[in-house]
Amino acid sequence: MKIALVTGASSGIGAAFVRRLDQLGGLDEIWGVARREGRMAGLAAQLRTPMRTLALDLTKMESVEALRALLDAERPEVAVLVTAAGFGKFGTCADMTLQETVDMVDLNCRAAVAVTAAVLPHMGRGSRVLEICSSAAFQPLPGFNVYAATKAFLLRYSRALRWEAAPRGIRVTAVCPGWVRTEFMDVARDTKNGRTVRCFPFALRAETVARRALRDSRWMAVTTCGLPALVQRAASKLLPHCLIMACWEGLRRL
Ligand SMILES: NC(=O)c1ccc[n+]([C@@H]2O[C@H](COP(=O)([O-])OP(=O)(O)OC[C@H]3O[C@@H](n4cnc5c(N)ncnc54)[C@H](OP(=O)(O)O)[C@@H]3O)[C@@H](O)[C@H]2O)c1
Repeated sequence: MKIALVTGASSGIGAAFVRRLDQLGGLDEIWGVARREGRMAGLAAQLRTPMRTLALDLTKMESVEALRALLDAERPEVAVLVTAAGFGKFGTCADMTLQETVDMVDLNCRAAVAVTAAVLPHMGRGSRVLEICSSAAFQPLPGFNVYAATKAFLLRYSRALRWEAAPRGIRVTAVCPGWVRTEFMDVARDTKNGRTVRCFPFALRAETVARRALRDSRWMAVTTCGLPALVQRAASKLLPHCLIMACWEGLRRL
């Protein structure tokens, strides 16, 4: 059985990947992971490909264990893995609760790596891993600090994993878009100081991100899915990060 496994499948970028993978066809099933099963069931009803909905909270280690046990029991061939479950909270480290901080690290870093580790043994030549990072990974971001740091971790992890997985014919891509119009902003603002970041220039549609990322994952180690984030990536390599942080400090208040 040939499947794609998408975390964060209940909304935004993850749901857009599910729709795109369904359009492309060639899969026996799509497995979606998120907490809101009803949302995934609604999506599944719109697809041609059968979708299995797995209601799991990936901040809990037992959820990853359950996913691994299911994979080991059913032994599907995972052609595509997309780790899109993730969230950020706006605010400085002083604004954030300990729970928000820890959950961000747990979901964006630990869960992404743990799910990838559980899935990799079920992948073969030609399979693809898309780790959904962010252009926030390219430089530190005051007022969005922990989130940006989690994405920097995932970007580094993805890049080295690409080399480690290459001998098995598995391609790994770090997907690093700028702002994308999803529920992400509502979640990010639902915190003590949610107005820390006020504008979201050049925001892409989730469908655009999914389409371009799947195209680029055939050969690219990193994709930004658009020009603004590509410029940001280049700037982060050419300019001192303190200069970029100074620009960000102005931009986020607009
Ligand atoms: N939107 C942006 O501007 C943007 C830009 C760059 C990168 N990204 C990244 O793209 C990814 C997807 O975000 P999005 O924009 O699509 O936001 P979104 O619409 O809020 O989707 C987030 C997804 O993560 C899932 N999720 C959250 N907490 C979870 C948990 N504890 N266990 C399992 N699943 C969980 C949510 O499902 P449930 O709530 O049902 O669990 C949802 O499906 C994230 O990693 C984000 O960092 C977003």
